[in-house]
Amino acid sequence: MIIPLAQRADQTQEYYFSVKLAEVRRLQAAGHDVINLGIGNPDLMPSANTIDALIKSAQQPTSHGYQPYKGTPGLRQAITNFYRHTYGVALEPDTEILPLIGSKEGITHISLTFLNEGDGVLVPELGYPAYRAVSAMVGATVREYPLLEHGGWQPDWEALTDLVSANSSANPTKILWMNYPHMPTGAPATRALFERAVRFAHDHKILLGHDNPYSLILNKKAPISLLSIDGAKDVAIELNSLSKSHNMAGWRIGWMAGAKAYVDAVLTIKSNVDSGQFKPLMDAATEALTNSDDWHRERNAVYQGRLDAIHSFLDTLGCTYSTDQEGLFIWAKLPDSVASAEDLVNDLLVSKHVFIAPGFIFGPKGNRYVRVSLCMPKERIEEATGRLNRTGGPAGFQQDLTD
Ligand SMILES: Cc1ncc(COP(=O)(O)O)c(C=O)c1O
Repeated sequence: MIIPLAQRADQTQEYYFSVKLAEVRRLQAAGHDVINLGIGNPDLMPSANTIDALIKSAQQPTSHGYQPYKGTPGLRQAITNFYRHTYGVALEPDTEILPLIGSKEGITHISLTFLNEGDGVLVPELGYPAYRAVSAMVGATVREYPLLEHGGWQPDWEALTDLVSANSSANPTKILWMNYPHMPTGAPATRALFERAVRFAHDHKILLGHDNPYSLILNKKAPISLLSIDGAKDVAIELNSLSKSHNMAGWRIGWMAGAKAYVDAVLTIKSNVDSGQFKPLMDAATEALTNSDDWHRERNAVYQGRLDAIHSFLDTLGCTYSTDQEGLFIWAKLPDSVASAEDLVNDLLVSKHVFIAPGFIFGPKGNRYVRVSLCMPKERIEEATGRLNRTGGPAGFQQDLTD
């Protein structure tokens, strides 16, 4: 006998990577050397100070009890200092910051806080899958908004206006999710884009949920926070995280920043779901947030050094890509000779033991794309390219690869 599940559990699909990485682990367990270029899981170490702070704090008898729901005052102050130093944004540490178990968790809490069943949510037609999945889980009405490929993957504001106007009475729009530097396309953030977004949110009385985990990775200009735009705090919440920028993805630490009223409301929901994080983790994150500009430059120099290797990997596959991308990935278009991204990805995994992400997991617009991660040492990326060049390649590919 099986007890019936809630509709939401029946309708929600398991996260693509959760399924695919199990396949990768099965291949590894069978002794295959899989090169995983699929996920944005930084392979570099957090700063040495971060690890020291973790150890020191873990040795204190006072570090092991329940912690404040809003995190430690020291962590909130460190986030405040980081926002001022990095983005020139002033935040109030006691009221405008809420530490989270990564920004992914924040998407759920914000959705639970703001969305009634049926409310409209605007998600980018290509984007982080959690915006769409969580909106559907809470019973909201998901509406995808187009990104203009030839306009640098910027939102199509005219289409957004139409989407909001067409649905202003039944299921009015409540949240617009946005993320620049954009994953998966690598499109950079600009002040003009953020100003437009804040104007749009004011005009239509919509909450802007901005997800900002990539602002420090391979950014070509000074990093920007949406909260630096005049009037943003009235209509926007920003999620941020140490996962990518501080090589701490497995630590699960991020935060939301925004006006006190929004932070208080999300905290009311969150405090019923979990408790404050482990103190040594928060103490270490507090230390990580003081990493010097040089530390960030050195991390980016490593990623920069991997870019050429990623480009030759993609050239070997016959893919095309923009060299203006920011963030932890390269987004690349498949050549016409490749029939399907899914087949390519599966073939590469099975016959070359190289894993890359198919573009469709970020939305149907990504059908003809793949996403390759920078989170592998250069030699491993070169090894992946070498495997493509060796005979016995994936079905349907060998011709292209040896041409
Ligand atoms: C756009 C985007 N938002 C959020 C996340 C999740 O970040 P975190 O580890 O802080 O939960 C990711 C992770 O890949 C991401 O790409």
